[in-house]
Amino acid sequence: PPPRLVDSFGRRVTYLRVSVTDRCDFRCRYCMAEAMSFLPRRELLTLEELALIVDAFVDRGVTKVRLTGGEPLVRRGLPELAHRIGRRIGDGLNELTLTTNGARLTEAAEELAAAGIRRINVSLDTLDRARFAHIARRDAFDDVMAGIAAAKAVGLAIKINMVALKGLNDDEFVGMAEWCGGQGFDLSIIETMPLGVIEDDRTDRFLPLTFVREQLARRFTLTPSDRRTGGPSRYVFAKELGTHIGFISPLTHNFCETCNRVRLTAEGRLYLCLGQSASVDLKAALRGGGVGALDAALDEAMRIKPKAHDFHIGTPAVSRHMSVTGG
Ligand code: GTP
Ligand code: 5AD
Ligand code: SF4
Repeated sequence: PPPRLVDSFGRRVTYLRVSVTDRCDFRCRYCMAEAMSFLPRRELLTLEELALIVDAFVDRGVTKVRLTGGEPLVRRGLPELAHRIGRRIGDGLNELTLTTNGARLTEAAEELAAAGIRRINVSLDTLDRARFAHIARRDAFDDVMAGIAAAKAVGLAIKINMVALKGLNDDEFVGMAEWCGGQGFDLSIIETMPLGVIEDDRTDRFLPLTFVREQLARRFTLTPSDRRTGGPSRYVFAKELGTHIGFISPLTHNFCETCNRVRLTAEGRLYLCLGQSASVDLKAALRGGGVGALDAALDEAMRIKPKAHDFHIGTPAVSRHMSVTGG
């Protein structure tokens, strides 16, 4: 079999995050600026090229693929791409999944499930409609709630992603956990990370998850859980809710040592770390030299994958926005 993907620190890459578009129908304050310039459509990989690149990764030992954006469901043909990649489930691939803002799930849920997706992550930072409109800068709360219900109805397992934001949702952790428990959803709470220039001051918004955990521990019995989803979340089990709560804390508790992932952008650039600019151009490799050149580019990627991110509270570690790689 073709060689596995192992970086210069001995870490195996088994998780590919695929951004299918950098566009989004929301403008979440911690992620994007209100005025963004997006990739011209001619720069995008075609769906066929995306699928070819995913195949190359699966051939070399990637077992988990996550479709991201921007918002993945704004890319035309996304369900077809999911079907195409879904054919590799059981043939190298263990899990195909998706991270979405939820607004278009009502139309897409059934197709996603049919493609072999079993579990999705939905970003939801608040359960209050007015707050939602403020944070996302779009009044789409009802669409998201309808989308989540549709996904649940077709049997998709759901994890809610909640970015912890001081002064915006810092009184909602208990409420969100209770709601997730009632719905049968898992929850991941995320420290806001400094990528790209936005209007907000991230120092004002940053909330260490140690604070969130203390709040939850006052209300629920939390026991460490050995659940692993392959992502950076470290989980506890909340006894009273019967639900798992994950914490993603890149700033207060760095998890780079066990990093297993890389990120493909919609224009075919492979970023080797969320908080660094190191990358290789897979589009150029594929278009210039076909699948053989692609393999060589993956070898080069493993040589230059950085040891760790450089995030510090406040100042952006890299100029690209979170939406370029979908987190
Ligand atoms: P699971 O498969 O459910 O574990 O998902 P995931 O956490 O891998 O993916 P998701 O798209 O839900 O991402 C949740 C948050 O984790 C986002 O804010 C991502 O930016 C962040 N995240 C994922 N991988 C990394 C990483 O390698 N480094 C850092 N710093 N953050 C990450
Ligand atoms: N810090 C932390 N998480 C972020 N996300 C988007 N921007 C940021 C940020 N600056 C989250 C989204 C989504 C996931 C892919 O990344 O809320 O759930
Ligand atoms: Fe991996 Fe970079 Fe994320 Fe660290 S910040 S876990 S090295 S992708």
